[in-house]
Order: sequence, then structure tokens, then C-alpha cells
Amino acid sequence: MSSNARHVPVMLQRCLDMLAPALTAPGAVVVDCTLGAGGHSEALLKTFPDARLVALDRDPTALALAGERLAPYGDRATLVRAVYHELPEVLERLGIPKVQGVLFDLGVSSMQLDEADRGFAYAQDAPLDMRMDQTTGISAAEVLNTYPPGELVRILRQYGEEKQAKRIVSAIVRERAKEPFSNSARLVELIRDALPQAAKRTGGNPAKRTFQALRIEVNAELASVEAAIPAAVASLAVGGRIAVLSYQSLEDRIVKSVFAAGATSTAPPGLPVVPEQYQPRLKLLTRGAELPTEEEIAENRRAAPARLRGAERIREDIR
Ligand SMILES: C[S@@+](CC[C@H](N)C(=O)[O-])C[C@H]1O[C@@H](n2cnc3c(N)ncnc32)[C@H](O)[C@@H]1O
Repeated sequence: MSSNARHVPVMLQRCLDMLAPALTAPGAVVVDCTLGAGGHSEALLKTFPDARLVALDRDPTALALAGERLAPYGDRATLVRAVYHELPEVLERLGIPKVQGVLFDLGVSSMQLDEADRGFAYAQDAPLDMRMDQTTGISAAEVLNTYPPGELVRILRQYGEEKQAKRIVSAIVRERAKEPFSNSARLVELIRDALPQAAKRTGGNPAKRTFQALRIEVNAELASVEAAIPAAVASLAVGGRIAVLSYQSLEDRIVKSVFAAGATSTAPPGLPVVPEQYQPRLKLLTRGAELPTEEEIAENRRAAPARLRGAERIREDIR
């Protein structure tokens, strides 16, 4: 299957419209921090013929596939293997001081979910890997087999918002003593057996939250988002715009708070006139988070949890 047939870019037109006012001038640079299959990137190159694209991904497979797809755009597209919080270093290496647009489409790609042997999907039995970059870091199996129980409970609660974390972790610790975990099916079965009936009725696969938690831990996803969003805001030229698509509340909360902080005056209360250095650096482009339409969700189930937030840089950093 070709890379573009596998992945339908989420809220694509809305992302393009949001970034458009910043990307029409000749020489504009737009960064796609999550290249994936290259769906959003290709649309950016097509829609803004005067813009140059820099696209990042930590997954070498994604870079190879998207590289083929974007080859027709020649040197208008520069693809870089990097974790997105490395954006400042990447731009420095490329000699780009400021950019006009940044897009994040967070989380795991359809490609990664569909490749069963990478272990992201709870619906298929596969080795418990879940690394987006399989050349580095530890796998989900290593996390399960080696972390102290208290750490596992924290991860399941915090990253998976799993209320039954203690119960699941007790079962994991008991089972791993008999035989270390290697495949996803055994974990899915264990979770199903460990949960009380009532917890299983709350919809969706009961393993979903645990899988999300392990994936976030394995890829240190939240730490990367926490560092990357402020770095991306700092890289924007005045008039530059950022759009971020999140798929779960923990990521969305980080985006919301970075944007809200940037859009708020930092002046001490009571000043009759707010001096320039305290004025907000950002203007919000979305009221709350925007959601995909019902039609989009009907066509692309994976768009369902998406939350889009955007902001425009309106002032230099003079603090
Ligand atoms: C949802 S997909 C992007 C899909 C893309 N917008 C498209 O239209 O094909 C997210 C991508 O971000 C990458 N990714 C996730 N976390 C990353 C990080 N911290 N640094 C760099 N890339 C990351 C994943 O490897 C994945 O390919």
C-alpha cells in the first residue's frame, strides 16, 4: 500500500487555513514537526508554492516513505530525522533564524499502528516494542518487566488515566515473575482478566489506557511535547503561526497552557498602562480547541479524538 493511501491527514483544510496568512510571502518557511506519512507536508507544499518546508520525524521508516512522496518537490522540502524538541538545533544547523509556520500532528501515526510488528496496537498480537525510533531506547516489554510496581502504577495513572492501575500492576508483577512479557496478546488478556466487570463496561478495549501509558513512557512523549511547544513558539517570526493537533487530554493540556501563558500579559496587577515587555507574545487563533466535523470522523475514525489549537506570534521576545 502506498504511504498516502494509509493515512488521511486529520483536519487538513482547517490546518492549512489557519497557517495560510503566514505562508503566502515568498521565502516563508514552514516546519512540519511530525512528518509521518507526509500528508500534511505534501498539502503544505502544494497549497503554498512559495514556501519552503522543513519536516521532522524521529521514525526512520516514516522519513524514508515520506521522502519518496515529497521527492517531486525537490529542494523545497528538507527532511530531518530528529525528535521535535530538537527543533532549535535543527533550525540553527539549517541557518534558519525564524520561521513563519509550525505544525504538530502529535501522537502515533496510522503507519505505525498498522505495522503490527511494532507493537503499538492492542488489537493484534505482536512483540511489545512501541518505540517510534527502533534504533534507540527501551521497549514496552522492558518497561513492563523491569520497572518497580510503584513506577508502573504512576505511569498507568498519569499517562493512561487508568483508574484500575493498582489492580493491573499487581497482575503484571505476579505474571512477570512467572515469565517475562514479550507479546501484546498476553498483556491484553491479563488486563481483561484483572478488571472488574463494571470497569469493562465503560466502553472501548480495556487495554487501551495501558497501551497509551506504555507508549507515552517508552517514547518520553509528554516531556518532548512540553519542551517542543515553547521552542516552536520561540522560533516563530512575528506574524508566524502555529497549529497543534493533539489526540489525548494530557498533550492538549500542555498545548493549551503554553498558548494561554503566551497570550496573557505578565504585568504586575494594577499598572495603568501595560509596558511593552509585559504584553502578550501570542494571539490565540482558536477559542478552546477545535474538533473535527462529524463528516470527517465518519470518513476517518482516527480523527475522532483530535483537538486543534492555533496561535499567532504578535510580538518579539523582549523580556
Ligand atoms: C500522527 S503522525 C503524523 C502524520 C502526518 N501529519 C501525515 O499527514 O502523514 C505523528 C508522527 O510524529 C512522529 N513523532 C512522534 N513523536 C515525535 C517526537 N517527539 N519527535 C519527532 N517525531 C515524533 C511519529 O513518529 C509519527 O510519524
